[in-house]
Amino acid sequence: MSKVQTAADFILSKTAVRPEVAMVLGSGLGSLSDIMDIDAEISYSDIPGFFKPTAYGHAGKLFVGHVSGRACAILSGRFHMYEGHTAAQAAFPAYVMAKIGVKKIIYTNAAGAVNTDFSVGDLMLIQDHINLMGVSPIVNEYVDELGVRFVDMSTAYTPALLEKAQQAGREMGILLRKGVYGMFLGPQFETPAEIRMARLLGADAVGMSTVPEVIGARHCGLEILGFSCMTNMAAGILDQPITHQEVLETGKRVEDKMMKLLKTLVPLL
Ligand code: HPA
Repeated sequence: MSKVQTAADFILSKTAVRPEVAMVLGSGLGSLSDIMDIDAEISYSDIPGFFKPTAYGHAGKLFVGHVSGRACAILSGRFHMYEGHTAAQAAFPAYVMAKIGVKKIIYTNAAGAVNTDFSVGDLMLIQDHINLMGVSPIVNEYVDELGVRFVDMSTAYTPALLEKAQQAGREMGILLRKGVYGMFLGPQFETPAEIRMARLLGADAVGMSTVPEVIGARHCGLEILGFSCMTNMAAGILDQPITHQEVLETGKRVEDKMMKLLKTLVPLL
């Protein structure tokens, strides 16, 4: 049996809930599981093929239950390539979610704002991404098992979901920026020269996750929505250093806004 199937079977054995929507929560955004009526709480270390996250602010738990009445899975914590995981390992949970029946997946992450019109604390809907990594999770693993090899990425972030999120934001009076997310490996923050390069290439925000997950999610046919929380202005914009502390603190500050938005949005998807 495949690794994906083994993990999916394990999760399904822990709950009778069959989620259609999944959310992956990034740094400092982890307590969004508060918005859920939880049916099962599963430690990543118990799920075959999952890892224990080493990034601070990542709970390393899968919650299955209901958000605003909609069956949902929340992945609190993700596997970053900067932790030493391969792109395929970072994407693994997307395949497992598809296997348990999830159709739509929402990614949240912390990011540095490259677009100087943005402010710290802003939320950005990811319209598109730039893979600055030069690697892909589908170079070999899973290729024949769950999807085609040459995956179309022209509408990776599902336009209909983007539209629904924008509508929810408007109705709730929550400002939602829209833009392009560029992924660097990290874990060091970028240099000012790298940020100038990212801006020239068309990035509005930069971070250290999400891209391999989205490629994997597209590969297995999931619909995708992505939110970046601008936890800081990217390197070189302000005359001050960037700290992980600042990233976590802004994440905490924005969490409430994010939580309200997701709570409203999930049943609309
Ligand atoms: N760069 C990369 N990743 C990040 C940043 C940043 O400035 N802030 C939060 N995650």
